[in-house]
Amino acid sequence: MARLVVVSNRVPIPDKSGTAPAGGLAVALQTALEARGGLWLGWSGRSCADDAVGPLQRLKEGNIEYALTDLTERDVEEYYQGFANRVLWPICHYRLDLAEYGRREMAGYFRVNRFFANRLLPLIEPDDLIWIHDYHLIPLAAELRRQGVTNRIGFFLHIPWPAPDVFHAMPVHEEILTSLTAYDVLGFQTEHDCENFADCLFRRGLGKRLDTFRFVVGERAFTARSYPIGIETDDFAALAKRAAETALHKRMLQSLDGKQLIIGVDRLDYSKGITQRIDALESFLNRHPDSQRKVTLLQITPKSRSEVPEYEAMQRAVAEQAGRVNGALGTVDWVPIRYINRSLRRPALAGLYRMAKLALVTPLRDGMNLVAKEFVAAQSEEDPGVLLLSRFAGAAQELKEAVLVNPYDVEGTADAMARSLAMPVEERRERWKAMMKTLRANDVFTWCNTFLDDLAGGPAAQKARAAS
Ligand code: G6P
Repeated sequence: MARLVVVSNRVPIPDKSGTAPAGGLAVALQTALEARGGLWLGWSGRSCADDAVGPLQRLKEGNIEYALTDLTERDVEEYYQGFANRVLWPICHYRLDLAEYGRREMAGYFRVNRFFANRLLPLIEPDDLIWIHDYHLIPLAAELRRQGVTNRIGFFLHIPWPAPDVFHAMPVHEEILTSLTAYDVLGFQTEHDCENFADCLFRRGLGKRLDTFRFVVGERAFTARSYPIGIETDDFAALAKRAAETALHKRMLQSLDGKQLIIGVDRLDYSKGITQRIDALESFLNRHPDSQRKVTLLQITPKSRSEVPEYEAMQRAVAEQAGRVNGALGTVDWVPIRYINRSLRRPALAGLYRMAKLALVTPLRDGMNLVAKEFVAAQSEEDPGVLLLSRFAGAAQELKEAVLVNPYDVEGTADAMARSLAMPVEERRERWKAMMKTLRANDVFTWCNTFLDDLAGGPAAQKARAAS
């Protein structure tokens, strides 16, 4: 079996605290890589002065060999905070209004991709399969090809790919599009994302489709298709079951004192629809006064990308809003919202999911959303909680038995909360069973293996799979 070399900006660097890494990419990739083994190159999370970037730090944990690089302060500002998180992220999440395009940041983005290519080059061997992840590193394969790398290189985009009218508003969209054609396999979370990508190519007159999944642009032919990312379904279910015995679980149950737990878990990000969700909760509580004092929303929201101005503003907005709702509706012995700006350890989180009667997963746009999948996996068969899910999350393409909502419709979401909390146990079980079947059929290992089979197999194998 060929060695796997993974590259991503964020790497869940092993630490002693056991805190869950923020973001689906880190969780899913770590699980997949632990099983298969391989080398993982990425950012150490540290920044340094321009002349102080040292050699790669090498670590080995179980099956994974890590190679971590520092970036300069300027790199972090231009590539990570600038182009990746103030241009690509908002545009891919349909927030053209938040995109802050600048040539300096764009140049920094391409420069740091070149830098990653230079760090990777001495590590790769001729038969390695190279798998690059997410929007930070789109031009990496083109850089590697320029330096003579002929290995098979795949790319997986963890976030949505927007419609052409949105994507083409980005000044360097053509460079970004053509640099993707340096890959052998391009993976998207949903078919819809993949079609948006194909529409972007065709609208610009770039290349054509050879068959369902094969495309050609100039000299290069490649595969592009959806590979919906999954979770370690049975392991997560077992983790949630065990968590019921822990002290934290018992403390939480005691503090709820018979109230129903509603849970929300999201990085603090404007794409997650947290303010709309709190509006919906307020509307629900105002229109169903009998529910006041009977439910509590636990909103777990680790801070994220705090140096980016839009995220800083968001931190203030959510804290103020949660405070306002608690002030308006709370009583001496009840608050509607418990708001936490920290990430919890995975076992604790799994236990809280299992305790919750309802999960609110209501992003305005999301590539997949693994919280939705983990919540379902954590439920008990006898008395499963309800998943209320935004139709704009990639997960809604698979978890069709969730209660699907439009998060922009605050009153509609409030009605769906009322319906979910009153849902009879037979219906909850039926929905849960159907969703578990889906999660078992497409777990994180299926995601990884399917992608890597296509990457390793070459055009003939892919054609055969497409025809089957
Ligand atoms: C999303 C992205 C990941 C990213 C994660 C956390 O899930 O798709 O690439 O790692 O958010 O964001 P951060 O900026 O902290 O890496």
